[in-house]
Amino acid sequence: MYRARITGLGYYVPERVVTNNDLKQWMDTSDEWIQERTGIQERRWIDPNTEDTTSVMGVKAAKIAIERSGINKDDIDFILFATLSPDMYFPGGGVRIQDLLGLPTIGALDVRNQCSGFVYAMSIADQFIKTGMYKNILVIGSENHSGGLEKSTRGRGVTVIFGDGAGAAVVSRSEDETRGILSTHLHSEGVHAKELSLIGPSTGRWVDTIMEENDPEDTSYYPYMNGQFVFKHAVVRFSEAIMEGLQANNLTSEDIDMLIPHQANLRIAQFVQKKFKLSDDQVYNNIMKYGNTTAASIPIALTEAWEQGKIKEGDTVVLAAFGSGFTWGSVFLKW
Ligand code: UT7
Repeated sequence: MYRARITGLGYYVPERVVTNNDLKQWMDTSDEWIQERTGIQERRWIDPNTEDTTSVMGVKAAKIAIERSGINKDDIDFILFATLSPDMYFPGGGVRIQDLLGLPTIGALDVRNQCSGFVYAMSIADQFIKTGMYKNILVIGSENHSGGLEKSTRGRGVTVIFGDGAGAAVVSRSEDETRGILSTHLHSEGVHAKELSLIGPSTGRWVDTIMEENDPEDTSYYPYMNGQFVFKHAVVRFSEAIMEGLQANNLTSEDIDMLIPHQANLRIAQFVQKKFKLSDDQVYNNIMKYGNTTAASIPIALTEAWEQGKIKEGDTVVLAAFGSGFTWGSVFLKW
């Protein structure tokens, strides 16, 4: 039986820093409100005068991950691309990644699970590797939120939270049974789909309808979030996903060397940290610098934690996410 192991990590964020105070040019908000409620100090937003797009950022992160994995890009067998903000409505962004990286005509699958996208994609990679179908899979999470946010006081409850960026991992076949992905756990609860959503344009609300109605109050083409409702579910589901992985692997929270929670809100991460009695060294957060980058947040944080030497060989690493769908899940790894 093969094991799937992360052999390379990389991330890319746009150079343009947007501080909480910068946001005041578009909306009535304050650094104090944003920091107190979310922990965010600044985020990166794509400068529209640059080449950066969701796929382009994904490629930049991927190039670093491939180089660090030590494989040749032609050795990649498959692409898994997690995003809620693809460059085009269709096709998905995975095929652009394949093209921009100049990879052979390998398969490319887009994963549409928003904040849980990277966790879902890692689980898919794990299955493909374990069955022996592929040897090296490129897993990417990338988001361009800034292009689609409502930059006004009306949209402030959502807009201040989200940032742009990309993270990538090369997941490779390993015959070392002692290391790699131990287990993955995926869940969803679609009854709450609308609580964190972007309704149109979609087949449920096409562009011609939106234009025909021409309603200045229409916000259906901006992301909507029922913040407090999402928050309450997030703390419960994050905890469940971690508990499920601990039980599946006969571990206790003391065995966790590094928890990388999806960077949704510092208060959510702190709640989870407290619940599992984890020390500051056992949890990595960077929402302060990047905001919530949805599918990119875990691979960016994982790469940073690894770069800073906070993840060492033999460590038990936990990735956990919750988000739109609702979807949630976890990945348990032995580094
Ligand atoms: O990544 C996917 C999962 N996402 C999450 O897990 C996010 C979960 N939710 C949250 O993180 C929090 O609910 C938020 C950070 C989004 C909001 O924090 P909150 O403490 O739930 O605030 P609220 O939405 O209840 O708003 C409180 C007040 C409101 O004013 P009133 O009605 O009390 O007068 C808002 O209008 O804060 C106001 N407000 C703002 N004020 C200044 C909302 N956004 C802002 C803002 N600046 N940006």
